[in-house]
Amino acid sequence: MKIFRCLSLTFLLCLGNSVAFAGSEQCAELVSNRCQGCHYKSRICQALGKKSKWKWKRSVSNMVRYGAKLSGAEQKIVVDCLSSAPVGADYVCKE
Ligand code: HEC
Repeated sequence: MKIFRCLSLTFLLCLGNSVAFAGSEQCAELVSNRCQGCHYKSRICQALGKKSKWKWKRSVSNMVRYGAKLSGAEQKIVVDCLSSAPVGADYVCKE
């Protein structure tokens, strides 16, 4: 029973890691391609770690209102990753 619990925990961790990784790759691509038409990524970098998820949601929907091209699912990816990205995250802060 104990072994089983351990295995399923590892499985969840692995699954969690690969999902987070896939998400951040997709996020990097979206930020590079869709978020730089109007301002530099540094604008986004500056906001990392300062906004709740709810505030990111508001910012991203503002961007869409300004004209950013993101589907609903893409907005969700960007909100999820930006609200959990560490301050100075490479994919947002490096050119
Ligand atoms: C169509 C033009 C446009 C695109 C594309 C765009 N933005 Fe913006 N963004 C703006 C403008 C204009 C401002 C300044 C006005 C403001 O602060 O709301 C701004 C400001 C910001 C700010 C600082 C203000 C705040 O709400 O914290 C952040 C963060 C931001 N943008 C993130 C993003 C992200 C993430 C994307 C890609 C999903 C993006 N932007 C794409 C126009 C755009």
